[in-house]
Amino acid sequence: MEKSSEVSGFYKKPVEERLKFIKEHAGLTDEEMATLRDTGGLPIGTADRMIENVIGGLTLPMGLAVNFRINGKDVLVPMVIEEPSVVAAASNAAKMARAKGGFTASFSGPVMIAQVQLVEAPNPELAKKTILEHKQDILEICNKQDPMLIQAGGGAKDVEVRVLDTIKGPMVITHLLVDTRDAMGANAVNTMAEAVAPLIEEWTGGRVYLRILSNLAVHRLARAMAVFEKEIIGGEAVVEGILNAYAFAEADPFRATTHNKGIMNGISSVVLATGNDTRAIEAGAHSFAALKGRYTSLSKYEKDADGNLVASIEVPMAVGIVGGATKTHPAARIALKIMDIKSAAELAQIIACVGLAQNFAALRALATEGIQRGHMGLHARNVAVSAGATGELVDKIAEQMVKEKKVRADRAKELLEEYTKKK
Ligand code: MEV
Repeated sequence: MEKSSEVSGFYKKPVEERLKFIKEHAGLTDEEMATLRDTGGLPIGTADRMIENVIGGLTLPMGLAVNFRINGKDVLVPMVIEEPSVVAAASNAAKMARAKGGFTASFSGPVMIAQVQLVEAPNPELAKKTILEHKQDILEICNKQDPMLIQAGGGAKDVEVRVLDTIKGPMVITHLLVDTRDAMGANAVNTMAEAVAPLIEEWTGGRVYLRILSNLAVHRLARAMAVFEKEIIGGEAVVEGILNAYAFAEADPFRATTHNKGIMNGISSVVLATGNDTRAIEAGAHSFAALKGRYTSLSKYEKDADGNLVASIEVPMAVGIVGGATKTHPAARIALKIMDIKSAAELAQIIACVGLAQNFAALRALATEGIQRGHMGLHARNVAVSAGATGELVDKIAEQMVKEKKVRADRAKELLEEYTKKK
């Protein structure tokens, strides 16, 4: 008989009751229940307050990227990701960047955009003018919403208005530009957008619908740059290979998507490790990559006068260090402590550097031996573990499978049986 997924009041039940329910519903074993209950570094009570209907946790590994030198300062960077090779690749790229002083990074400032959508304005151009005439009123109302933010030196700073042609007719879109300091700022800017909406309706005679931040954070850009010495990265052919890889990504959205995915391997891992919103950063990054009307590479590669490779990146980086999971998740707090950072601006710059390092490492591998060889070693260990190998057998089986070029579950099982018998 089909089991119903309709459960009323599930959110009101204590975690233990939810667990009992799911155990019965899915026929989970005691071992599976113990796995669900093990929420890693996140107490289940905290998890239960973070999202709804909590029944457990899923722990991912946190790896430490080493060798990063950013703006003349060494930093260790925690990364949370399920994919092998990523942390090693970032560390390796960071090591190669050190010869020329490591990474140089900057940040445009933590200015977030909130959008207010006005429709049915009798005269959209006049509405635009009217809203702009009330700029000081708008800023005042916005800045009444969050005294703490003002105290910290942040707050609404500017107002922009556009008349947008849409399939439902012209709309008047107001942007509130808000300095959110060390917060990601979603709550602050959404509150401001909601507060000004009734006045915008009153002044224009139109009707406001959406009042929400934009994840396309073009006023919150993190920039990173590094020079990779020609000899250190493998010579002129490697430089040319990477320049060709970049040209490919620059010209072709199919390649640019994968190129940028590699960048996001680095970016999202640090975003996740610090309890920030990976979806917000991903959405902003990809949209930024298409901002000039064509989806293209987020990074850029050039050659300097000595033939060295100059890598750079510019990417929206709306991350915070004071609110949400960055504050409530104990492991996220530890990640921030490891990096020894005091501001969201510093975090944004580190993240851009890791994204660039990741991208450089991927392009270097792709332009030379391909990524499979490096990947295979780590992938083989995963396959060995999945086949049931433990302890020293993991490496032994993995090495054998790589040697045989047969990194497969069936071969791992055979080898496990063979080696266990021998023991
Ligand atoms: C794999 O996770 C990321 C790469 O595909 C990135 C790239 O192709 O540049 C290796």
